[in-house]
Amino acid sequence: MMIEKILIADDEPLMLRFMNDLLKRHGKEVVLAQDGKEAIHILEKESFDLVITDMKMPHKDGLDVLKAAQGNALVVLATAHGTIESAVEAMKLGAFHYLIKPFSPEALEGILEKAEEHLRLVKENTFYRDGAKSNLIAESPSMKRILQDLDKIAKAHASVFITGESGTGKEVIAAAIHEKSSRSTYPFIKVNCAAIPETLLESEFFGHEKGSFTGAHTRKTGRFELADRGTLLLDEVTEIPLSLQPKLLRAIQEQEFERVGGTRPIKVNLRFLATSNRNMQEAIESKIFREDLYYRLNVVPIQIPPLRERREDIAPLAKYFLEKFCRENHKPLKHLGEDALKKLLDYSWPGNVRELANIIERTVVLDFDPEIHANHLYLDSTISPSAKESLKAMTLHEMEKRLILKTLEENHQNRTRTADILGISVRTLRNKLHEYGDSPDD
Ligand SMILES: Nc1ncnc2c1ncn2[C@@H]1O[C@H](COP(=O)(O)OP(=O)(O)OP(=O)(O)O)[C@@H](O)[C@H]1O
Ligand SMILES: [Mg+2]
Repeated sequence: MMIEKILIADDEPLMLRFMNDLLKRHGKEVVLAQDGKEAIHILEKESFDLVITDMKMPHKDGLDVLKAAQGNALVVLATAHGTIESAVEAMKLGAFHYLIKPFSPEALEGILEKAEEHLRLVKENTFYRDGAKSNLIAESPSMKRILQDLDKIAKAHASVFITGESGTGKEVIAAAIHEKSSRSTYPFIKVNCAAIPETLLESEFFGHEKGSFTGAHTRKTGRFELADRGTLLLDEVTEIPLSLQPKLLRAIQEQEFERVGGTRPIKVNLRFLATSNRNMQEAIESKIFREDLYYRLNVVPIQIPPLRERREDIAPLAKYFLEKFCRENHKPLKHLGEDALKKLLDYSWPGNVRELANIIERTVVLDFDPEIHANHLYLDSTISPSAKESLKAMTLHEMEKRLILKTLEENHQNRTRTADILGISVRTLRNKLHEYGDSPDD
């Protein structure tokens, strides 16, 4: 149910009663205002999903109410027959719809349905984009096996627990499961349990009511609700604080929860996917993660092997990323030389597929020859001492800086030669060094 709380403003008591009775019969929470001024006053304190306001009222009129509610709720203007122009005006100002008075119960119900459908579409468009379209490369026997099972897994309703080292492609697999499932036209929502501060996580999951804690200025819809009828991905689920885990387990089992500060239970229909890069046995034994929650989520386990254990995937992935990044950076397609490929195949890939993607992006962006050679590939062991973590956090800017300084060092600070190798002008190189605060001989 997307439209839950509705404000009605009308100076005719009979109209108020008519709408109030009808909407309450549909299970809505309804608040009434007898004129525009009262409506605006209420809007300052509470939030609503829908506002239905009469156009002509003493004190403030419908357009004032529209202004006050805009951006926070859908607004429907009710106008008397013969004042169609004001309805048109209201639509131009951003009203969701209008009703011509007198209207039938069916007309009001029609508006309600439209509003629910509208919110559902908005939600889908906003969040479906989150779910990265999964382009899955899988040539190795182990990945092919996973891919084969994926259709079957996707069709089921059971929870899936995806494990694998950092950067192995857990989120890509999760997105693929959603896309292949019958839920694919509904939202795919992700909660990164490691990135959200502990104190905010509960409200991120379940939402909160206005004023339920300091800083809760408006009502917030939680991710459980946003994902209704779709798929909810609990990314890095082991990072959820132990104190919140029983509540999460209950919500998953019952498919029902309450907003923080709320009293009404909210029902949802969700499919759960979870990921973790921890050893789950250890996480359970060391009491970081509850066993019952693990068994609830781990109905179907998928374990993605590290890249070093499926080397058949390296070449096709490299080719895929090369095409992707050349396209994205508007560069002609580069070619991967024999020696470069050999270097990639020999490497240990502590950062897995993400590291491979980063390395290819680096070479594409930093503009080498049309053919990529082994010496163009700055693998982590040659460029940075602490491989895995730094790679994940490194920005393109940092990568560029490291590469430039490293190349300078290898060429005994010879700037002309360094610029040549990097395919940039000496002047660009000088500017960049200046930016890094490293330009002693300028
Ligand atoms: N099989 C694959 N085919 C194509 N791209 C892939 C594949 N596996 C991973 N990638 C890409 O590699 C990157 C890392 O993948 P993803 O984010 O899914 O990893 P992860 O296992 O969730 O990592 P972390 O544990 O660090 O969150 C992404 O850019 C993803 O698109
Ligand atoms: Mg991930």
